[in-house]
Amino acid sequence: MSNAKVLLIGSGGREHALAWALARSPQVGHVYVAPGNAGTAFDQGAPTSNVDIQAGDTAALLAFARDQGIALTVVGPEAPLAAGVVDAFQAAGLRIFGPTCAAAQLEASKAFSKTFMREHGIPTAAHVAFADYASAVTYLQAASSTGHTSFVVKADGLAAGKGVIVCDDIDAATAALKRTMLDREFGAAGNTVIIEERLSGPEVSVLAFSDGRSVLVMPSARDHKRIFDNDEGPNTGGMGAYAPIPGIDAEWVERVRRTVLQPTIDGMAARGTPYVGVLYAGLMLTADGPKTLEFNCRFGDPETQVILPLLDQAAGRDAPASLFEIMLACAQGQLDQVAPRVQWRPGACATVVLAARGYPGAYPKGLPITGLDEAARLDDVVVFHAGSALKDGQPVTAGGRVLAVSALGNDLPAALRRAYSAVECIHFDGMHYRKDIGRLKPNVTKN
Ligand code: AMP
Ligand code: GLY
Repeated sequence: MSNAKVLLIGSGGREHALAWALARSPQVGHVYVAPGNAGTAFDQGAPTSNVDIQAGDTAALLAFARDQGIALTVVGPEAPLAAGVVDAFQAAGLRIFGPTCAAAQLEASKAFSKTFMREHGIPTAAHVAFADYASAVTYLQAASSTGHTSFVVKADGLAAGKGVIVCDDIDAATAALKRTMLDREFGAAGNTVIIEERLSGPEVSVLAFSDGRSVLVMPSARDHKRIFDNDEGPNTGGMGAYAPIPGIDAEWVERVRRTVLQPTIDGMAARGTPYVGVLYAGLMLTADGPKTLEFNCRFGDPETQVILPLLDQAAGRDAPASLFEIMLACAQGQLDQVAPRVQWRPGACATVVLAARGYPGAYPKGLPITGLDEAARLDDVVVFHAGSALKDGQPVTAGGRVLAVSALGNDLPAALRRAYSAVECIHFDGMHYRKDIGRLKPNVTKN
């Protein structure tokens, strides 16, 4: 196959990075992105274009895939997965990369994933789940009388990354329960809450491809969630990332594969809900070893913007496996056949997110973006679009996180230098970015 058509669902920075890597897979003829953004509409001559179908419109996506003879559909965000887009495609006999609705419960329900981890001996924080406020408060009081003081309160369902509250004392934990269960700040996601033991240690993300049986681990990555330098201010979707993480060696990654990722894939298969797609483990390196904070059933954003540029996709004879080949093999249950050919480039990749003034609160839209071509001309730099759109053919801001500027380097400092020089080329009114991506010592958990 050398002219395969791919349909990619989603519109963020993660999806531009996926479209970019898929379009550079030698087997791919065209990548259609539904609905996409300004970056996926026009990708420096790569065969990519947008389709005016929303990510949640399963019927229209199915019809498009059928009519266009799409060889593989790839799902970017979690919402369509939890809504069953993979089930619908499979029922129609169409090939798709991503977990079914039942398998996506690993992200969509924290109560499910915590019980699953406990049953399968996967290291994670101790927890209790509650469906009513009074029992949850009674539990907190009993726990604090036996000396427990810090807790983490989590809404069970999908809350756009906002349903987790880290609490220093019982008053804060009680307030968090009230916000989640009585004030319903996270809507139905807070019908059930998890109260978790609070862990401490640096955080690491490890993502892996799976075909439902085996796993292929990607380079470790770390994102920066706070809006301001020095991890100050409110949480965001992610203000920058880097990969791999210095100090996370192969032995450590292998331990995560053996104790977390493979047992999860085995456990999901044993339940009759095999997990196919990307399994993202958010981990904390505690004194007792790596523990799982959460699973996501998709690529991370902005982790994708640093992991995929590290995938070696050279063309030609004896070429390494491309992203398309890896994803197709997962969807066909044949990951073992391509895994030996997967190669990651040496060195590092870093990305700096350029956000609109006011994000993660209210922000303006429609501001012209300049300097993109100048930045893209720099060696080993890729500017991924997230919240952007085209107005009269010109890129304008259309979201809170507008761009992710990624760069490769021989090591992390070199990648960071290059990414920040590219950032200097780009401008839009009120542009905000962190100056300390990849430079902060990751040892504190703040709420
Ligand atoms: P989650 O969405 O579950 O990954 O949680 C979001 C963030 O909350 C994580 O990235 C951690 O910084 C923090 N967090 C979650 N669970 C815990 C825990 N058990 N102990 C300490 N911090 C946690
Ligand atoms: N960057 C965190 C996530 O994608 O969930």
